[in-house]
Amino acid sequence: MSVSTVASVQTVCAPLAVLGRDVTVPLVTGGEVTYAALDYAASAPALQRVWDDVAAYAPYYGSVHRGAGYLSQLSTDLFENARRTVTEFLDCRDDDQLIFTRSTTDSLNLLAAALPADCQVFVFETEHHASLLPWQDAQVSYLDAPRTPGQAVETLEKALAGRDSHGPALVCVTGASNVTGELWPVRELAAAAHSYGARIVLDAAQLAPHHPVSVRELDVDWVAFSGHKLYAPFGSGVLAGRADWLRAADPYLAGGGASRKVTRREDGGVDVEWHDSAARHEAGSPNVIGAYSIASACKALTEAGFDSLVAREQHLIEKVREGLAGVPEVRVLSLFGDDAPRVGVLSFVVEGWNSSHFAAALSAEYGIGVRDGLFCAHPLVRTLLGSDPQSQGECGAPEAAPGEKSLNAIRVSFGAGTPDEHVERFVKAVKELVADGAKWTYRTEDGRCVPAV
Ligand SMILES: Cc1ncc(COP(=O)(O)O)c(C=O)c1O
Repeated sequence: MSVSTVASVQTVCAPLAVLGRDVTVPLVTGGEVTYAALDYAASAPALQRVWDDVAAYAPYYGSVHRGAGYLSQLSTDLFENARRTVTEFLDCRDDDQLIFTRSTTDSLNLLAAALPADCQVFVFETEHHASLLPWQDAQVSYLDAPRTPGQAVETLEKALAGRDSHGPALVCVTGASNVTGELWPVRELAAAAHSYGARIVLDAAQLAPHHPVSVRELDVDWVAFSGHKLYAPFGSGVLAGRADWLRAADPYLAGGGASRKVTRREDGGVDVEWHDSAARHEAGSPNVIGAYSIASACKALTEAGFDSLVAREQHLIEKVREGLAGVPEVRVLSLFGDDAPRVGVLSFVVEGWNSSHFAAALSAEYGIGVRDGLFCAHPLVRTLLGSDPQSQGECGAPEAAPGEKSLNAIRVSFGAGTPDEHVERFVKAVKELVADGAKWTYRTEDGRCVPAV
């Protein structure tokens, strides 16, 4: 069933309770409004349920994997149970490993450090820098931006067919773009990778908070995501998947927890036996609250039901898209076209406006938090804008005159905790700013637009 069909047959559910839903912020023009957090793609607010679970556990907090005391035992159980919960959430294979990391960036760097010798890596230029950059020490091929999902598969197949060796290869691909929100054809790319003997890692940083991710169904070899984008902002992330490359690699960090036995040699050196399990790459004291909060978020999303969460999000996407379609000055950025299935992440430019100026006015005059810039995906934004994004421009004057190309973009993103009112206020604000201009004056400070007073 396609994403849009799910939306049309499901009753739209209420938003999930998140922290910060009642926070008010001052407006430069006077008064206060409830803050509209529309930057979920950067960091989503914590689910109330996650916060409550963490608060309930906090008095029982103790060291993991090392103490003999009751609270240490309890915390160790909690940490290992969290691993099982997230493994189930991702529908991993029985022999997969799940490693708790700091973030998606950390997970992908860990995998990059675990690549076998002479591994070739294939990555589309459209990736977030976290997926684009960790492979610099391998033989990496950057693939041109495709313009359809089918073209993505063709481009990958062509690149893999032209491989100069039959050694190990890895494809890294995102599930949903952090710029356009568009879904990538992960299952088809995985099939293509496997048919050429390559493996594939899925960057699910923007997919997992919006859609169920099944490692088995998608047939990906690894998946990575971050807790703070999945309503669990306590500094943990996940890398899950095939154990063989991870077991064969040197520990990501050397230290306690990763080592099973350490002995002095007669020549004065030290011999180390490293663990083969996930502990091999989890040296040091693990972030038990981070892991527990991710598990709590996984349970909350599963219990809420992804069908109704997706339906609600599609309903919000429709509202934003319909609203923006009524403003001819707005151009929504897209790689795969208007009909491509997407998550609640949309980037756009406004003719004649500096994006930083526009975002600053949304915040200062309407209490709406969006993001402006290049979203850590410079090559993709450059392709979408058709301009060189290095210069940010001055905010006092529009950086792009009518008809000229913008240098950066504005991104609005939302999810399970977003009420209709936030996206309605956003659409109204865009219309008013375009029609009437900003009510306040702004200046540039450290490269960002801020209210002049
Ligand atoms: C698609 C994608 N991948 C990776 C990352 C990196 O995530 P983190 O900053 O949590 O490591 C992001 C963050 O925005 C992202 O959007």
